[in-house]
Amino acid sequence: MTRLLEKVCLVTGAANGIGLAIAEAYLREGAKVLLTDIDETRGAQAVARLQEEGLSAAFFCHDASSEEQWQQAMDAVIERWGRLDVLVNNAGIAILANVEQLTLAQWRKTNAINLDGVFLGTQQAIAAMKGHGGSIINVASIEGIIGEPMVPSYNASKGGVRIFTRAAAAHCARQGYGIRINNLCPGYVATAMISGGLQNIGDDAAQQFQAYLQQRIPLGRLAEPYEIAKAALFLASDDSSYMTGSDLVVDGGYLAQ
Ligand SMILES: NC(=O)c1ccc[n+]([C@@H]2O[C@H](COP(=O)([O-])OP(=O)(O)OC[C@H]3O[C@@H](n4cnc5c(N)ncnc54)[C@H](O)[C@@H]3O)[C@@H](O)[C@H]2O)c1
Repeated sequence: MTRLLEKVCLVTGAANGIGLAIAEAYLREGAKVLLTDIDETRGAQAVARLQEEGLSAAFFCHDASSEEQWQQAMDAVIERWGRLDVLVNNAGIAILANVEQLTLAQWRKTNAINLDGVFLGTQQAIAAMKGHGGSIINVASIEGIIGEPMVPSYNASKGGVRIFTRAAAAHCARQGYGIRINNLCPGYVATAMISGGLQNIGDDAAQQFQAYLQQRIPLGRLAEPYEIAKAALFLASDDSSYMTGSDLVVDGGYLAQ
């Protein structure tokens, strides 16, 4: 369990769900991890539990859509551990509203967190890593590859992340920075993002949607967060040394048919 021994990592949106699973996976491979999130209560609880196990975890309250708070989060990780080797831009939200219902404020909010946040984090991580190299993982989605009628702003933000990653990855590679940047594209994962969305659409629609997903996903179930974390571990480690500007799709076969 030493694939990330002594690597200094920052994971956003790490108080819950996929981000927390990624932070745990990294910690168990020997990394030091700053978990950041706007959810201070859940973030602090998670870090207390991880520290009790003797893992090198810390929490920083951080809104990923704020440039100023990005600077503070970067300062926090570098003050604590002296460097940054891995950034996971994981924080994200999904607003359910089709193109006719969606407001401009909802569109902007989704993009501010999911896309602006990824840009800000990537830009600041490049500045922190370019003396020694590193890995940046941008959590996009299969929803950045295909459209779904109820999440157009989410689709747009994740599609934006995917192509932004390519531009930033090519730049870093050409500059010889030793910084790799890749997209992680999960399919449907059993987290609060999905369960919260289902609660909002009512029991009947929620049951119909769950039945549809089971039938639609070839593996017949949602992913567990740890199954996405394993892919994030691959992207963070030297096992993916020849991979940059790519999409790693982990979707139970959703896009295969
Ligand atoms: N669950 C899925 O099916 C699924 C599929 C594909 C991609 N994703 C992506 O994975 C990432 C994690 O999603 P999840 O399913 O774990 O969701 P989640 O809702 O369980 O966790 C998201 C976390 O992000 C935090 N967050 C929200 N806004 C923030 C902000 N402005 N700044 C910092 N933190 C913020 C939340 O507090 C929460 O802890 C997201 O980018 C999401 O789009 C999820």
